[in-house]
Amino acid sequence: MAINDEPGNSLDAWVARGAEMAQGMADARAVARRRRFDTIAVHGLYNHVAAAANQGAIIEPAYLAPAQHFHDSGELEAALAYLMPAWGYSRLANPSTLYLEETLALLETYGTSLEASALVTGSGMAAVHLATNALLAVDPSQPAGAPINFVASAKCYGGSFMLFQRYATERGIEVRWITDPLDTEAFERAIDANTRFLYVEVPSNPALALADIPALADIAHAAGLPLLVDSTVATPALLRPLSLGADVVIHSLSKAIGSSGLAIAGAVIARKGIPVRVGSDGLRTDFAMEVKLLPSRDLGPALSPFSALALLSDLRTLRTRMDAWSRTALAVARFLDAHPAVSHVSYPGLAEHPGHAIAARDFRLADGDDDGHEVARYSTLMGFTLAGGMEAARRAYDRLSLIFRATDLGRVKSVAVIPSISTHQQQGEAGRATAQIAPGLIRLSIGGEHRDDLIADLAHALDA
Ligand SMILES: Cc1ncc(COP(=O)(O)O)c(C=O)c1O
Repeated sequence: MAINDEPGNSLDAWVARGAEMAQGMADARAVARRRRFDTIAVHGLYNHVAAAANQGAIIEPAYLAPAQHFHDSGELEAALAYLMPAWGYSRLANPSTLYLEETLALLETYGTSLEASALVTGSGMAAVHLATNALLAVDPSQPAGAPINFVASAKCYGGSFMLFQRYATERGIEVRWITDPLDTEAFERAIDANTRFLYVEVPSNPALALADIPALADIAHAAGLPLLVDSTVATPALLRPLSLGADVVIHSLSKAIGSSGLAIAGAVIARKGIPVRVGSDGLRTDFAMEVKLLPSRDLGPALSPFSALALLSDLRTLRTRMDAWSRTALAVARFLDAHPAVSHVSYPGLAEHPGHAIAARDFRLADGDDDGHEVARYSTLMGFTLAGGMEAARRAYDRLSLIFRATDLGRVKSVAVIPSISTHQQQGEAGRATAQIAPGLIRLSIGGEHRDDLIADLAHALDA
């Protein structure tokens, strides 16, 4: 996006130059879209032209500067009025974070003709907050005494659950919890004139619950509402909710996308032209861009450019990692399922999982297996309970010697956690009952270790 010569000091000249720059990016996007998933993940929009403008560097540079220098007052004025592509100030935008955003938008729309924009944030919770908060604006025409509401699966990450409870206690917004996200009719029944959006996590953390995204999208759209999907656990390598009808995808990039664990980050990716009942037209035409240019600028959850590059480095190998680690996860889930000390395993790849049929339909490894055959991969996360309940769970957990005891997932190193005493502790017993989180549930996230070593560690722990 660098400009090396000056077209003059007028606003109009810079707006015209901006249109050329925007066209250049659109052309680069069109070229990238003709490529395969891995190629997009490796290159994104950083092409030979971009490299030439960056001393020839073949890896995207880290633009750590807080602010952009402008050639003259005309460019300053055009840039800050959003009349031309520019970054201006790193709380709002930055060339390094832009490369990450563009790559994510391309991967989430892979295999479709959909246009999407993306916004990256300083954490996954910032992404959940920005995406939902933008849809909860006060509507002056709404009759008093009828609170704004939204319909959300209760089977979601504890932090999202707490944020939604906070909307309720601090702002009087009604959260209409759906305890079984496979019950699509329950979502439909919960919608009324004051509903703003439907929200699901697929698959959910830690319950591994599924939801029928195409059916929920139809229900949401019939009511003029957007469907938001937190797809952190699946990643676009396995599940692309926009291609199934969803409007907005949310990620904690701190997880499988950033599996090396060098950054905390989040993303909102939205297709262009989505149904939104209340708020600016920009939300309807280009949701993620509107949220980036206005509320995100004002609320300030910007991602560090340094983190953006760490995440880009991990993103390049996303598909092959998710393929290999998901296959390890399936082997581990089968081992646990057959173990006498284990009372229940929740993993979408097991036939007895209530969402297995939907997962088998929707979870498609991008570009298929090595021979190009379509294959389902079921992600790297699972939950299991022991016949001996919470006491047995603690005993087994404390005997793990390879798998880390940590509140983490999607990591290159396998980790396990007991959600009821950690990630989902603060939502209380009633909240956990709503979300159906058993006290002794152990959540296990599989990484890049050899399956034999993981199974040996679990076998030793379960011997207790
Ligand atoms: C499904 C899901 N969404 C959102 C988040 C929040 O992400 P972060 O920890 O990056 O704020 C998490 C964190 O565990 C998560 O698992």
